Amino acid sequence: MCGIYGYIGEFKLDFSGFLLDGLSKLEYRGYDSAGIAVLSNDKVKVVKEVGEIKKLKERLKGKIIAGDAGIGHTRWATHGGVVKRNSHPHTDCSGRLTVVHNGIIENFEKLKKSLIKKGHKFRSETDTEVFIHLVEEKFTKKGISFREAVRLSFNEITGLNAVVVLSPDREIVAFRKGSLLVAGLGKKGNYISSDIPALISKTRKIVLIDDGQGIILSKNKMFLINPKDGKLKKATFKEIKMEEVIDNKGNYKHFLLKEIHEQPEVILRVATNNEREVRKAAKMIKDAWGTYFTACGTAAHAGLAATYMFSEIAKRHVNFTVASEFTYFEDFLTPKSLLIVASQSGETMDALEAVRAAKRHKSKILALVNVPSSSLSRMADYTMLLKAGPERAVLSTKAYMAKLSLFLLFAFTITGKYKKGVSLLKSASIKVREMLADGLEKDIKKLAKRIIDKRHIYIIGRGVNYATALEGALKIKEASYIHAEGFAGGELKHGVIALVEKGTPCIVIVAEDRAKEAVLSNAAEMKTRGAYIIGISPKRSSVFDYWIPTPDVKQLSPLVSVIPMQLLAYHLAVLKGRNPDKPRNLAKSVTVK
Ligand code: BG6
Repeated sequence: MCGIYGYIGEFKLDFSGFLLDGLSKLEYRGYDSAGIAVLSNDKVKVVKEVGEIKKLKERLKGKIIAGDAGIGHTRWATHGGVVKRNSHPHTDCSGRLTVVHNGIIENFEKLKKSLIKKGHKFRSETDTEVFIHLVEEKFTKKGISFREAVRLSFNEITGLNAVVVLSPDREIVAFRKGSLLVAGLGKKGNYISSDIPALISKTRKIVLIDDGQGIILSKNKMFLINPKDGKLKKATFKEIKMEEVIDNKGNYKHFLLKEIHEQPEVILRVATNNEREVRKAAKMIKDAWGTYFTACGTAAHAGLAATYMFSEIAKRHVNFTVASEFTYFEDFLTPKSLLIVASQSGETMDALEAVRAAKRHKSKILALVNVPSSSLSRMADYTMLLKAGPERAVLSTKAYMAKLSLFLLFAFTITGKYKKGVSLLKSASIKVREMLADGLEKDIKKLAKRIIDKRHIYIIGRGVNYATALEGALKIKEASYIHAEGFAGGELKHGVIALVEKGTPCIVIVAEDRAKEAVLSNAAEMKTRGAYIIGISPKRSSVFDYWIPTPDVKQLSPLVSVIPMQLLAYHLAVLKGRNPDKPRNLAKSVTVK
C-alpha cells in the first residue's frame, strides 16, 4: 500500500520539490521510504531515502532537481525490507526506465526467475522491480513501442496493482487493476495520483481511470488505453467539487489529540444534519433480507458494536464479519441481502474486495465513508458520508465516533424513534465535551505514568462494550506498541485469566446496563489474581484500584467509554517518545490484500 504522484508538463527549476509537495499529501498511505525520478535533459535522476518524505526533503536541500516530467512514491513495505535499495522508484538494467507501484505482483517470483535467466540484474528484493525488467525486455530487446511494452507487461502480472512508468521519451504510462489511480488535467501539464484529494490543490479536472484500464500522459495529451488490445481513446475529465483539505493541528501537538477533542462536534454533526440520508439508509436495512456488516481495523469494531445496538434497540439481527474474512462467507448472499461497509478512507482493499464479492451476488451495498469520491463511495449503491472532517492521524478516532453515532441513529430510526436517537446523541455530545474539558486528561496522564513500564495490558467489556474493549486495546497497541488485548469479560475464566499476575493492568469497562454486575464480577476474578484494576465507569466500585469517571449515557456508553483509552494510547505513546500520528509499520489505509 503506497502513494503514487506524477507530473509531466512545463519545465520547473525545482521539479523535485514540486513532486514532493504532491507526494506529501499521500503519506497517509505509507511512510517507510520515499523516492522520486525526474526527467532532466533526457536523463532520469532517481533519489530515494528511507523514512518519511521530510527525510528526502532534507537530503535534497540545496540540491534541487530541475526537469519537466517525473514520478514519485511513498512506501508501505510489503515485499523486501525497509532499506533504500527496496525503495521506489525502481529502474531497469539501463537505468533509463523507472517505475513506481502500489499493490502486490503475486506471480513476481516466477517472472523474476525467467528474467534472471535472460540476463537481467536485480538490485532489490521487491516484487515491483520485476515489472520494469519485463518492460525493458520488450522495449529494448524486442523493439516494441514503450506504451505497448508497458501494456503487455501489465497483462503478464497477477494481483491487484497500479503501476506508473516514466519513459525517457517524455511519456508517463500507467495501468491499474484494483488499486486506485486517477489523472488530472492541469493548465500546463498533466498529473497522475493514487487519489483525488492529492490533486485538488492543482486541478479539479479529474480523469477517473476505470478498473483494468490504462492511461498515457504527455505534456498536453491524455489517452486511455484498453489493456486487451491497446486501443486508445481520448480521456474525458470530470469536474470534481471538493474542498481542498488544509491540514493543521491547531493548538494541539499532534493530529491524534486534536481529533480526539473534535469528537463532541462530530457526534453533534451526525445528530443534526443527516435526517433524509439516515431515513433512507434505515429503510434499506429494514427492507433487506439479511443485513451484513463488514470493515477493517477500527471500523470493524464499530460494526461489532452495531450488532449489539441493532439487537437491543431495533430488535434486529445484523451479521458481522471482518472484511478480510468476508469473501469466505459470500456464498449465502442473495440479491435481497444488504452489505453495510464502513471505511474512513474508502480505499481499504479488503473492504473493496468484500464489496466486489457482494456485487457478484447482486446484493445491495450501503457504504459509510469519510473521504468523498473514494473508491468505496463510487462502488456502493448508496453512500453516507461520515462528515467527521479530515482524519490525519493513522489511529482512527473521530471517524469511529461518527460510525457509532450513525449506527445508533439507524437503530432508533428503524423503530420509528429517529427524534429520540437525535436527542440522545445531542446530550451525549454535551457530556463528552464536559468529560474532555473536566480534567480527564490529567487523570489519564497520571495513569499512563503509572503503567508505562508494563508489557501487557488487558481490557474487558461485556455486551456492546466488548467491542469497546477491542477498540481500546487496538488504540494502545497502535500508538504505544505495548501488548494490549481486549476480551469479552465472560471469556476470561476460560483461559486468558492465566495471563494475569501481580500488578497486571486490567481495564474494566462498566456501563449502567444489564452487563454491569457480571463485568464487575469478572474484574473481581482478575483482582483475585493480583491484577491492578482500572475502572472506566460512571460509578466508582470497590474493585477498582484506579477509577476513570465517565458520564452515564446508558445505551450510548460506547461513545464515552472509548475516549479514556484513546487518550491513554496517546499519552503512553508520547511518554515512550513514539510518534502518535505515524506509528511504525502502519498506514492510514491499506490498499493491498
Ligand atoms: C488501518 C488503519 O490501516 O486501516 C486503521 O491504521 C483503520 O486506523 C483501518 O481502522 C481501516 O481503515 P478504513 O479507512 O477502511 O476505515
